[in-house]
Amino acid sequence: MTKTHRLRNIYTLSDYEKAAKRYLPKAVFQYIRNGAGDEYSLRRDQQVFNQWRWLPHRLRDVTARDPSVELFGHRYAQPFGIAPTGGAAVIRYNADRLEAVVARAANIPYMLSANSITPLEDIIAINPDAWFAAYFPHDPAIIDGVTDRAHRAGYKVLMVTIDVPVAARRIAETKAGYTMPIRPNARVTLNAIRHPSWLLGLARTVAHRPVIANIQPEGGPSLFSRGVDAIGGASAFTWEHIKRLRERWPGALVLKGILRADDAAQAAEIGVDGIVISNHGARLMDHTVSPAEMIAEIKAASGTMTVLADGGFRNGSDVLTGLALGADAILLGRPFLFSCALAGRAGVEHATEMLRQEILRNMGMLGVTDLTQLSPDLLRS
Ligand SMILES: Cc1cc2nc3c(=O)[nH]c(=O)nc-3n(C[C@H](O)[C@H](O)[C@H](O)COP(=O)(O)O)c2cc1C
Repeated sequence: MTKTHRLRNIYTLSDYEKAAKRYLPKAVFQYIRNGAGDEYSLRRDQQVFNQWRWLPHRLRDVTARDPSVELFGHRYAQPFGIAPTGGAAVIRYNADRLEAVVARAANIPYMLSANSITPLEDIIAINPDAWFAAYFPHDPAIIDGVTDRAHRAGYKVLMVTIDVPVAARRIAETKAGYTMPIRPNARVTLNAIRHPSWLLGLARTVAHRPVIANIQPEGGPSLFSRGVDAIGGASAFTWEHIKRLRERWPGALVLKGILRADDAAQAAEIGVDGIVISNHGARLMDHTVSPAEMIAEIKAASGTMTVLADGGFRNGSDVLTGLALGADAILLGRPFLFSCALAGRAGVEHATEMLRQEILRNMGMLGVTDLTQLSPDLLRS
């Protein structure tokens, strides 16, 4: 089946997941899809949007509609971006680069995860607007080394993922045989062989001797080595580290993983430039609040910080809901991974274009011509 054929029956962002289920081996599919615990939060992050209904304005001229948004001094064409996803390379050869290239062409934000196999220098070379999403241990020498490296490479936005104090455990991927370091058992290997075009991509990835490229100042542990075990939570990484980072990092500093208003207020006090209201796609702990329902409360405590949100946003209406509640932009993770798995660059372009059209159409339906006109008064809950 050709790449374009795989996109034939895709009408919504959620359709990528259904299609990718056939295309990816079970262990890889579950690694992307699954959430923590019984996956209550994973389901609820999407269902939470059912609590709001739109109150559209009528008889306004909506011929010219502008969905652009300014974030950290750059005007992006769309109010959504590609969230950082570690391990993206397991879905397709060069997945990080493919996402970064599409984001650059579409002028949408792209975040490279520290937990990826593509060196941060390679990504900024193809996408000068990329943000770097770091996972930091408590060791200041490593933090300084990685931060200096990102600065030297030319990154202007440093996102720090702050919601993994201890390693997460996800049941569905574990049952399906997904392991890090990669140690496929016989069942996983047999299943992988039944997905030959995916396997070909993995073979190309493996031929380049992949290492986790951005968690250390230089080098990094191989995907096949025990060293990757060490990536799994920074239990002694605290607000003191953020204060120090604020003093050292000259660019925009963004904390990803805020779920409480008082944490947002503390970030604002330290001089952080932005936050992402996020439960990490419900991958860390079950029964957390859903990010969308926290936007209004957290925004009110955020002062002048830029407020982003992610987790369960699956269409243009969801994105506009997040913005109407007070977010400046919304990030999406899994839909871009699944679309990339299916059709590489064409898949990510397809997802970006579908979301762009949904947002433009819904802005028209709401009687809104630019995003500053979105406010909670457009929503009834
Ligand atoms: C496979 C996968 C890997 C992820 N890796 C990271 C990561 O390395 N760093 C990070 O901050 N968030 C990571 N996330 C979380 C995403 O950045 C984002 O918060 C989440 O995917 C948003 O939810 P959504 O997938 O429902 O859009 C990952 C998510 C997925 C699905």
